[in-house]
Amino acid sequence: MTKFRFPKIVYGGDYNPEQFPKEIWDEDMRLFQLAGIDIATLNVFSWSLNQPDEDTFRFEWLDEMMNKLHANGVQVCMGTSTAAHPAWMARKYPDILTVTADGKKRKYGRRHNSCPNSPTFRHYAGVMARKLAERYKNHPALLLWHVNNEIGIRCYCDNCEKSFREWLKQRYGTLEQLNRAWYTRFWGHTFYDWKEIVIPGGLSEGLSGGNSDQTAFQGITLDFFRFNSDSWLECYLIEYNAIKEVIPDAIVTTNFQGNGTYKPLDYFKWAPYLDVAALDIYPENHTPESYMALRYDLMRGIKDGAPFMLMEQSPGVINWKSVNPMKRPGVMRIRSYQAIARGAESIMFFQLRRSLGAYEKFHGAVIDHAGHENTRVFKECAQLGSELKQLGEVLTDLRTKSRIGILFDWDNWWAVELGGGPSAYIKYVDQIQKYYDALYINHYQIDFIHVNSDFNAYDLVLSPLLYMVKPGLAQKLERFVENGGTWVTTFYSGIVNESDLVTPGGYPGELRKLLGIWVEEIDALFPDQRNAIVMQQKVGQLEGVYECGLVCEVVHPEGADTMAVFETDFYKGSAALTRHHYGKGEAWYAATDPSGEFMQQWLKQLCESKGITPLSDAPPEVEVTRREKDDKQFTFIMNHSDHQIKVNTGEHAQKELLSGTNIKGDIQLESKQIMILQRHVK
Ligand code: GLA
Ligand code: ZN
Repeated sequence: MTKFRFPKIVYGGDYNPEQFPKEIWDEDMRLFQLAGIDIATLNVFSWSLNQPDEDTFRFEWLDEMMNKLHANGVQVCMGTSTAAHPAWMARKYPDILTVTADGKKRKYGRRHNSCPNSPTFRHYAGVMARKLAERYKNHPALLLWHVNNEIGIRCYCDNCEKSFREWLKQRYGTLEQLNRAWYTRFWGHTFYDWKEIVIPGGLSEGLSGGNSDQTAFQGITLDFFRFNSDSWLECYLIEYNAIKEVIPDAIVTTNFQGNGTYKPLDYFKWAPYLDVAALDIYPENHTPESYMALRYDLMRGIKDGAPFMLMEQSPGVINWKSVNPMKRPGVMRIRSYQAIARGAESIMFFQLRRSLGAYEKFHGAVIDHAGHENTRVFKECAQLGSELKQLGEVLTDLRTKSRIGILFDWDNWWAVELGGGPSAYIKYVDQIQKYYDALYINHYQIDFIHVNSDFNAYDLVLSPLLYMVKPGLAQKLERFVENGGTWVTTFYSGIVNESDLVTPGGYPGELRKLLGIWVEEIDALFPDQRNAIVMQQKVGQLEGVYECGLVCEVVHPEGADTMAVFETDFYKGSAALTRHHYGKGEAWYAATDPSGEFMQQWLKQLCESKGITPLSDAPPEVEVTRREKDDKQFTFIMNHSDHQIKVNTGEHAQKELLSGTNIKGDIQLESKQIMILQRHVK
């Protein structure tokens, strides 16, 4: 793993000069300087330009641009250009074209269009990455590598099917094992030959034509999802290795899509091969801040707390919704600081100059069609650029300290939503977000952790919807609680093993002992249907009755205390919230999906009982985070609201880095205002 440090929060984004005549290039350099831009991502979609046929490669435009950028103090994030294959390649080697879930072979078109198991794609992508590395290995502008782009489509072609069988052989060894894991005696599926196995798309096990994740055979589809994520990781590694063989200390990454929670790729499995994690984030104006906050914390989490890159965001509009409103004044800036406040070491845009044609010509850019610096968006970009320059290296290589960990697991996510369960409305990330929000609102710092993380580094661990319990996890949780940790989990947990096979003997299976409960029945509620929970014992400020919905389970305590019960239905009076003293710690179970208000109070109480204090008592529209380096503490305070808010900054005078003034006590924070308070500790 390459170790590196960015010299400052790097600032820039995707730049596609190949779409413009060269006369504009010098003007761009002038505008980049004005905007404080010091990084440009080049060559993301230039494969067909760089390789007009099988044997010809031409990089002269890229040479010229690299030199120009270098001369203007801009570093390069080098795209490998493999996110859209050339048309000639598709014509000559149709294996590169993907097949959709409903079995249609695609023709040439769009982008993100290559099959991950196409020998053609793998071969030529590797060749291209190596050629680029050889050509630019000593170029002074080169800072890092950006493999492909927003990787991860699922392909259902014959090559993928063949590779899937090979992947399964590796995983199971024998068909006997596979038949067991997939529970193939159900609906007469016993396989006698590997060749009988087909991809579970819409023509096979997939329900609704394969256009949803719902499937008739969860075990098969779960493995297909794993396989697809692994196939793309192999493709990434072909390019990664080609680069590293030429430049051993290259910094290599790829930009994760889906706002940082992209279902098809298991980020935790990818993380070891990313020198720095990177995400693209495209919130809408009404997207709550906690949505981004969660995703930044997750990006930090996949590499155990290391800083990450914000590889793309729009400086203004996006273009793919039916209605695309402008980002309001000040919003791009405050949301950029939000990313920094949670671990980003780059603020990058899609795109630096707006295209003149095709699909993204109305997508926001630093330089608009007008072509000059006299636009609101440009000015806002330039202001942020100059601030980041001013801040220099102060905000790099910081760390977040948290005593709360939320467990996130892709296999579990996939499995929860494969269908056939109590309710299609049970959504993994939604539940994670609800628990996150309940803590976020009170300004608690949160880390995302994975099944192999060291739980003992935390006082409070939450694992909403722990439907799948991987080998060893139950024992690990038992040790954590025994040693004094507080653990929280929810309904529909402890149900299956890694293969989506139910753990027999009563839910929550392997977690039953630790939780001290037996779940006899799982009742699903329609979306607008509610039950309520009635408090039975004191839990912090909670008293009386709180709404709940989605799922209500019939729970029998076996050692756990009943903290709250259901208000109505045939399970009226039975446990809805339980607490089990286990060793020196506590294991909590919510047998339903309670209201946000309930969750805030409940989790606040758990934090208080562990001595975890919130960073601030500011209202929820003000976001507060803390980052640390050596003996310095940086507290970010951001007013996302449209009005002024009073915030208490504490009794010690602290330097506010954006204004250079000293601050203490109560301050009035204007709408969209940001403060970064620096304090020496020790
Ligand atoms: C994605 C892609 C970019 C661009 C933007 C538009 O993030 O990576 O190439 O299409 O979306 O928002
Ligand atoms: Zn394929």
